[in-house]
Amino acid sequence: MITTTEQSTVKLEAAGLDEKIKNMLQQLKVVTVIGSGTMGNGICHVFAQSGFNVHMMDINQVALDKAIATIGKNMDRQVAKNTLTEETKAQALGRITTYTDLAEAVKDADIVIEAATENIDLKIKIFQDLDKMCPERTILATNTSSISITRIGSHTKRPGKVIGMHFMNPVPVMKLVEIINGYATEKDVTNVVYHLSEYLGKVPCIVNDYPGFISNRILMPLINEAILALQEGVAGVTEIDTIMKLGMAHPMGPLQLADFIGLDTCYSIMHVLHMGFGAQKYAPATLLANMVQAGFYGAKSGEGFYKYTPGSKELVVSERFQNKSWKI
Ligand SMILES: NC(=O)c1ccc[n+]([C@@H]2O[C@H](COP(=O)([O-])OP(=O)(O)OC[C@H]3O[C@@H](n4cnc5c(N)ncnc54)[C@H](O)[C@@H]3O)[C@@H](O)[C@H]2O)c1
Repeated sequence: MITTTEQSTVKLEAAGLDEKIKNMLQQLKVVTVIGSGTMGNGICHVFAQSGFNVHMMDINQVALDKAIATIGKNMDRQVAKNTLTEETKAQALGRITTYTDLAEAVKDADIVIEAATENIDLKIKIFQDLDKMCPERTILATNTSSISITRIGSHTKRPGKVIGMHFMNPVPVMKLVEIINGYATEKDVTNVVYHLSEYLGKVPCIVNDYPGFISNRILMPLINEAILALQEGVAGVTEIDTIMKLGMAHPMGPLQLADFIGLDTCYSIMHVLHMGFGAQKYAPATLLANMVQAGFYGAKSGEGFYKYTPGSKELVVSERFQNKSWKI
């Protein structure tokens, strides 16, 4: 276990706020992040850099070790760009403690951000445990990409304190936090999470709880449509991504973005949209389903629409898609 050596330096205040919200904000010192994968390590990074004591929890010790190494590497990049000093980097890393035991990780948490695998049963179980193990005051936020906040909250005795805090990947770089109000989320909790997001240097946008919220209700059907076009042999991987990059000024093509998000996550989100709206237009592409079944998750597994070699930034189309007339 890595132990915290630095104390919280957080001074959360926002001008013009009423006393109750100010007090709630000032009490936020310890944040527990559940899951230390792609999103979890980025969320820990920004909270630690902003002065919070961060408890990073994962069931997998290897994932925790990898996350600490990733955060260190990403902070080195900031040092090289002069946006962080060696000293502030060391202090931020010193504020992170790792845990494999949930009860230990949350016993003094002021806010929890859950960023475990996108699976409804898993998240419900985590929130039931959090509800039992966390102090009464603790806000329970989830970074889910699509699962209903209202449904997650309904499995706790504090649905008013359950909220969506949807960071974007890569978290240290991306400005947006989509805040999702569950049906029962208390206004004060939304207010606190809104100002907390601003304190982290992010731009919060508040939306209501509908499948996929706003971000993924719009993004995922676009990605799924790109996969359907590939599946039908309309065009190859390079052509689809180039058309969207150069024709629509997207910084990344939809297939590369899908690899980056994780095809398993994309598949889960499409499933939630499909079930939630009951409309055929949200059915996940068969190719996407097959790739996930076969363990081709994109960047994190080493291969998706592209092939990833550690240390190389070159974009290489997976051999399976190099023949443009390829069909399932
Ligand atoms: N990847 C993205 O671009 C992205 C963007 C926004 C939101 N999200 C959401 O963030 C969440 C995490 O996604 P990710 O891409 O980081 O996934 P990931 O697969 O990279 O990491 C998930 C981590 O959760 C851990 N985990 C699984 N069960 C756990 C448990 N019971 N307790 C603690 N840890 C557990 C795993 O060991 C793994 O390290 C998901 O809900 C996803 O939808 C992902």
